[in-house]
Amino acid sequence: MGTRNIVKVGDETLRKICKRQEKFDLRLAILLKDMADTMYKAEGVGLAAPQVGILRRIAVVDVTEDHSGLLELINPEIVESEGTQTGREGCLSVPGRQGVVTRPMKVRARYQNRKGQWMEIETEGFEARAICHELDHLDGKLYIDMMDRELTQEEIEGHIPEDDAQ
Ligand code: NI
Repeated sequence: MGTRNIVKVGDETLRKICKRQEKFDLRLAILLKDMADTMYKAEGVGLAAPQVGILRRIAVVDVTEDHSGLLELINPEIVESEGTQTGREGCLSVPGRQGVVTRPMKVRARYQNRKGQWMEIETEGFEARAICHELDHLDGKLYIDMMDRELTQEEIEGHIPEDDAQ
């Protein structure tokens, strides 16, 4: 299992605009596998390439508990979004912290798969939130830049009013 180190907030790598991935080769396949392994090991629901030090437009997302919903997003872009949701969010690059962030409720995104084929996904709720969060990483943006408020340690462990709205 090839897990990689996760870059933490404060590192300039997280603030760069990532370049498009042009090659759909074995090297990409290995990176995708390593990124998924790294995300699962850290018990995250998403991971973007800059978080492992690679400045390419690549992200993985899996919001399922049994790891059955892996999305490999290469050169992704959101083409349509609808509504809003306000809820808690964290990031593997910002350990120990959480904030309340407002995101679209539904998104339609297009992306390339590991073979370079263009795909489309339409999703909502938590998966839509995760996709938006990871795509932001590709443009050097972190959720802490746009959160409505930061949660206290007590709130992180417990219930927050925003949970009721989900
Ligand atoms: Ni993140």
